[in-house]
Amino acid sequence: MTQVNEQHRGRLTRDGIRIHEAADFAGMQKAGQLAAHILDKVADNVFIGQTTSAIDQMIEAMVTDAGATSATIGYKGYQHASCISVNHVVCHGIPGDKIRKWKNDTHARDDDALKDGDILNVDVTVVVDGWYGDSSRMFVAGKPKPYAEKLIQVTHDSLFKGIEAVRPGNTFGDIGHAIQSFVEGHRMSVVRDFCGHGLGRVFHSPPNVLHYGREGTGPVLEEGMFFTIEPMVNLGRPETKVLSDDWTAVTRDKSLSAQFEHSIGVTADGFEIFTLSPTGRFHPTWQD
Ligand code: MF3
Ligand code: CO
Ligand code: CO
Repeated sequence: MTQVNEQHRGRLTRDGIRIHEAADFAGMQKAGQLAAHILDKVADNVFIGQTTSAIDQMIEAMVTDAGATSATIGYKGYQHASCISVNHVVCHGIPGDKIRKWKNDTHARDDDALKDGDILNVDVTVVVDGWYGDSSRMFVAGKPKPYAEKLIQVTHDSLFKGIEAVRPGNTFGDIGHAIQSFVEGHRMSVVRDFCGHGLGRVFHSPPNVLHYGREGTGPVLEEGMFFTIEPMVNLGRPETKVLSDDWTAVTRDKSLSAQFEHSIGVTADGFEIFTLSPTGRFHPTWQD
């Protein structure tokens, strides 16, 4: 007799997209809520002078204390519990600590300490009971410049334009189109070099969830699909490059970049957001 492999319940579409069962939503809720709870706590830990490695260490401790696992530690050699992408870093920024590792450090440098007006994306992926919860949000140290605030607002709203296009019968192209047309309507640009992804009991699976596209193109959405939508939006041109650390992606024109990410499931009549903030802190304006 063959034992049913938990990881291969449900079925795959012809595009290789897993259709999950009704019971699987509970697993995604638990993982998504831990990621959201952690990001809620990050909000209290972003301030002028703070280092991104201190934020990452807090995140790693919270993951461990919850009895969960970080999906990013050990992923393709990545060594941190979060990606922290400051200002013109588009994604996959590596948390760093060049200031006061210890008291009276005469070699202390403040390169990685947050400065007034810095904007940052913090991206956390946790594994709870085998299910992945992946979410990211923007935070601000001190007071943002008006154009940075506008970028954050448009990026946030573009994610929700994409989410509103999620329902059975729509296509992935509909999601991309909703995001792209909204962003370009504000004369900002959508990053093409990185995309969202299917997830569930694996971190990155089909499909590629593009944040641009044409209506009616791409795979058709079906109830039981789980994926992220995570648009990266630049104030300048969309082109990116990856730095020599092989992770950090930056805008080629050094313009500011922002990103928000939710993990989502397709329901019978729409969508469920697994990574909603339990305290309504997803959008950074709560800080005011
Ligand atoms: N959480 C990121 C995503 O949204 C992936 C980070 S992979 C890492 O898909 F290795 F860079 F951490
Ligand atoms: Co993701
Ligand atoms: Co992520």
